[in-house]
Amino acid sequence: MTIILGLESSCDETAAALVANDGTVLAHKLATQEAEHRPYGGVVPEIAARAHAEALMPLVDAAFREAGLGLRDIDAIAATAGPGLIGGVMVGLVSGKALAHAAGKPLIAINHLEGHALSPRLADPSLQFPYLLLLVSGGHCQLLRVEGVGRYRRLATTIDDAAGEAFDKTAKMLGLGYPGGPQVEKAAQTGDPAVVPLPRPLVGSGEPHFSFAGLKSAVMRAHQSGEYSTQDIAASFTQAVVDCLVDRTERALDTGGPVSALVVAGGVAANMTIRQALAGLAARRDMPFIAPPLWLCTDNAAMIAWAGLEHFREGHEDGMNVPARPRWPLDPDAEKVRGAGVKA
Ligand code: KG4
Ligand code: ZN
Repeated sequence: MTIILGLESSCDETAAALVANDGTVLAHKLATQEAEHRPYGGVVPEIAARAHAEALMPLVDAAFREAGLGLRDIDAIAATAGPGLIGGVMVGLVSGKALAHAAGKPLIAINHLEGHALSPRLADPSLQFPYLLLLVSGGHCQLLRVEGVGRYRRLATTIDDAAGEAFDKTAKMLGLGYPGGPQVEKAAQTGDPAVVPLPRPLVGSGEPHFSFAGLKSAVMRAHQSGEYSTQDIAASFTQAVVDCLVDRTERALDTGGPVSALVVAGGVAANMTIRQALAGLAARRDMPFIAPPLWLCTDNAAMIAWAGLEHFREGHEDGMNVPARPRWPLDPDAEKVRGAGVKA
């Protein structure tokens, strides 16, 4: 059995996990920094880096205790090396290097986005390449053709905000607090998705990309008009995002080449309305739909350990000089578009 220790610290969750090659999650530990960042309504990089430094090693110890294992029992250490907030990424990567050096085990530097991209194969080992991945998180909104480990073709990305960013900003505008996505989902449950007229940017467009900036401004105007309830705005906003995601994903299915399944990953994939709409799209096209369980959609270290396993199987290993990268595209050949920030 191959066992990998995974470390994650690229945004506002600190996490450590032990995962075996048959997909068994032997332990996964997570500390969220939500309380530290809440007063500021978003992630403060300096606070994040300090909190990662304090939380990471105790989580590693706790993961080993839970699994009844020690450093000598693992085969490699996989640490997120980017993209993300550089201070936090460095905490995890340097810790991974120190552990790898001390234990004499290989280090594998993982792209956080690849962790999300391969997580559906941890959730469902029968999932075969190539599959179409809708990666929707706080910093990214992309459609990727996942062709193999380390082989990602970006079919679409956002030209402005990421979907998660739109959820977070909508929550802030509506006074729902941080983190925004789950709060908007809760408010939307008692709202009417058809009440507030909101735009669906780029829906039906011949270009492949996403855009959410105009939607965000329209939400702001609707809120300021005082005509609509918070719940109706939250529900109508969610429906507009759903329509954009489904339309763009359908276009990618039409034009991106054959795939074995439609897959969704990233924090926004925790949203039930979005999951159901994508499941409906896959059903209409008679193809399997795979969405990892909620805890595996939002940031965690099991997906990093799993991506490490996929690379370990292929003999990949990184040197101690591997750098932390604030930006690290999954498809380096993809054309540049304006794009969103560095949060992954
Ligand atoms: O992947 P993730 O945990 O962190 C990175 O961005 O890497 O994604 C976080 C994003 C945030 O924008 C958060 O608001 C959003 O995912 N999110 C949700 C839900 N849960 C988390 N968005 C909509 N509905 C949710 N239930
Ligand atoms: Zn993420």
